[in-house]
Amino acid sequence: MGGSQSKKIKGTVVLMKKNVLDFNDFHASLLDRFHELLCKRVSLQLVSAVHGDSQANGLRGKVGKPAYLEDWITRITPLAAGESAFKVNFDFDEEIGVPGAFIIKNNHHSELYLKTLTLDDVPGQGRIHFVCNSWVYPAKHYKYDRTYLPSDTPMPLRYYREQELVNLRGDGKDEQLEEWERVYDYAYYNDLGDPDKDAKYARPVLGGSDDYPYPRRGRTSRPPTKLDPNSESRLPITSSLNIYVPRDERFGHVKMSDFLAYALKSIAQFIKPALQSIDSTPLEFDTFDDVLKLYEGGLDLPDSDLLNDIRKNIPLEMLKEIFRTDGEKLFEFPMPQVIKDNKTAWRTDEEFAREMLAGVNPVIICRLEEFPPASKLDQKLYGNQKSTITANHIESNLDGVTIDEAIKNNRLFILDHHDILMPYLRRINTTTTKTYASRTIIFLKDDGTLKPVVIELSLPHPDGDQFGATSKVYTPSENGVEGSIWHLAKAYVAVNDSGVHQLISHWLNTHAAIEPFVIATNRQLSVLHPIHKLLHPHFRDTMNINAFARQILINAGGVLELTVFPAKYAMEMSSVVYKNWVFTEQALPEDLKKRGIAVEDPNSPHGLRLLIEDYPYAIDGLEIWSAIKKWVEDYCSFYYTSDEMVQKDAELQNWWKELREEGHGDKKNEPWWPKMHMRKELIDSCTIIIWVASALHAAVNFGQYPYAGYLPNRPTLSRKFMPEEGTPDYAELESNPDKAFLRTITAQLQTMLGISLIEILSRHSTDEVYLGQRATPEWTLDHQPMQAFQDFGNTLAKIEERILGMNNDKNLKNRVGPVKMPYTLLFPTSEGGLTGKGIPNSVSI
Ligand SMILES: [Fe+2]
Repeated sequence: MGGSQSKKIKGTVVLMKKNVLDFNDFHASLLDRFHELLCKRVSLQLVSAVHGDSQANGLRGKVGKPAYLEDWITRITPLAAGESAFKVNFDFDEEIGVPGAFIIKNNHHSELYLKTLTLDDVPGQGRIHFVCNSWVYPAKHYKYDRTYLPSDTPMPLRYYREQELVNLRGDGKDEQLEEWERVYDYAYYNDLGDPDKDAKYARPVLGGSDDYPYPRRGRTSRPPTKLDPNSESRLPITSSLNIYVPRDERFGHVKMSDFLAYALKSIAQFIKPALQSIDSTPLEFDTFDDVLKLYEGGLDLPDSDLLNDIRKNIPLEMLKEIFRTDGEKLFEFPMPQVIKDNKTAWRTDEEFAREMLAGVNPVIICRLEEFPPASKLDQKLYGNQKSTITANHIESNLDGVTIDEAIKNNRLFILDHHDILMPYLRRINTTTTKTYASRTIIFLKDDGTLKPVVIELSLPHPDGDQFGATSKVYTPSENGVEGSIWHLAKAYVAVNDSGVHQLISHWLNTHAAIEPFVIATNRQLSVLHPIHKLLHPHFRDTMNINAFARQILINAGGVLELTVFPAKYAMEMSSVVYKNWVFTEQALPEDLKKRGIAVEDPNSPHGLRLLIEDYPYAIDGLEIWSAIKKWVEDYCSFYYTSDEMVQKDAELQNWWKELREEGHGDKKNEPWWPKMHMRKELIDSCTIIIWVASALHAAVNFGQYPYAGYLPNRPTLSRKFMPEEGTPDYAELESNPDKAFLRTITAQLQTMLGISLIEILSRHSTDEVYLGQRATPEWTLDHQPMQAFQDFGNTLAKIEERILGMNNDKNLKNRVGPVKMPYTLLFPTSEGGLTGKGIPNSVSI
């Protein structure tokens, strides 16, 4: 010790101390004194990648002498807030040779977050950089290293590599998992209901059955409920932020999502009950001007206790940060983009149809291939569900074209929510919701825009399901009571679409579908594995946000059930839809072909010809899809030069097997799963995973507030059926159509709850990492993949330019529409906040 002649290896460690989610200690945690970590409280030991330890028969890499954090480097850039860098000096030991991993021990009393270790001037190697991004609890061991394929991992490191995966998988025992654990395991969605609280809060277990198949969630292993041993007990709402996720999945960065999580909790814990407490006499908007007050000065709420209670319980700095309020006007919201330029253009038929191509749910519209539209529901159970729309209803509206010609020339499309909703409609309508299953037929005009030509609203037959549907058909009208009825018919369609958007397009197909990939990747692919390195950035914060969602949004009586029309049947309905989920159809080109919107054409860009040429989501989406695919191809081709290498990669094969048999276990017998025998299957599958986690989620997430922050444009529920002639409701529709409209859609308090939620969900954190970016620039030392990644970034930058250009092209009318709101939901980068653009790498909000 103290040998002044022995050679030293200089290193730099970047750390972050303490959990910033601890709001009681918010300022203190940021200002925490880092020099407490000095004085031998944190030790690091290098592990040899070339020489074995003689005491372990040479099977484990030799471990060097401990070195300790020395100087606290206060001036080093670039570091994010809350991070700190330290010097460390290792004795160079010939027997270590090349360091391939290191062991860290934290003898300090609280946890710290280890970002990176960089070694300078390693003899014969130069600089070595370890990217860690992991929490280190007192006296826990973690080892990290450079990228090697399993078969190429130097023998001395294999033990550590395998041991680390064993640790991450846990022992599978059903013991409650504690905050500091890093166990990734699977569970059913059996924690949404709360049968012990009241029978009305019982919910079926989703996952593990033919009736209710579902993707798996991360295991938490809380004790079962008393009344239902198959249900997991819930955490009290006050402890929501403590719900277990593997430690490294918890927001580990000083980032806005910490605030967002806190804000979500505030909504569930204080705002929701406060609003519910005065919901017995629901407040109503009487005019559209009333609604606009939400964004222009804020609403005066009658119950001052409500605001007092909220103010008392949410720190003012949180209120300022999240709700941008001085504490007085809590419910003042930013102006949603859809009404920024024009307060009434949202009501036009053109805008109604345009949002099927460029709105927040642009993934449902299909080409109409037969007329009248058919149903795929089982006729034995549901009788005749065929549409009652006739040629008479629409032919006068097809700009001189017959129905046959319109179908033949690919000019008729349909927004079809009939089959999804019909089986649940009878039950949904026993709640406060009163709604229909809808079909909307749309005509593609010569100028490339769409117009709705007919809406059919259907209910289950009053005498029983086997008697089929009873339906009414509505056609466009601009004036008088007919115009008001048409406007209401469009609102029922928007209600259907907003529910399907939130439950299926957003929650099921992105948030829930991705979580099994996160779990399987961490359990089966070592951090050294190139596919782990490829996918890991696309999993950031997903398990955490999903855990919060189970705790406060999608649970029984949670915000989703209160604000989205299928109410207590919402999650159950999404499980029925998961029966038709097909992994390979999540690829954008496959989805477009399946919906009949695109046909294969080798002469078109991306090999696809779009039958709606000005389809902003598909146009931008295909550009992004192709860019991701090229990047994944370049990356995978560097590490895998043959199909055989894919087949022989044991970690990769275990990963894929577990993903199919456990993660999406209810789908394990489906014939469409890629077999993972070929390089192409690996590339296609990784492209789908990255597409869903990044671009698809962005397209359906960050437009929520811009489009639906103004509820009349996308109401989330309806409380009354269409007025019948001769009733008081009909008379009101004639005398005061706006009031009748607002009495039908979401009530005032639910509106405020709903838009408080989607405002938070539509925000970007200030340290968001976007597609084409990485949190750690030196994430790989392999030159060729790094170069390919830079090419990927350059391609995305060019896509941004193209998007801006297209949004200024007057011929592309669907990109901006009557509301003058350019389509930017697939514009790759963004600033922080509520921007309506930006593709983060992962499903993180
Ligand atoms: Fe989301």
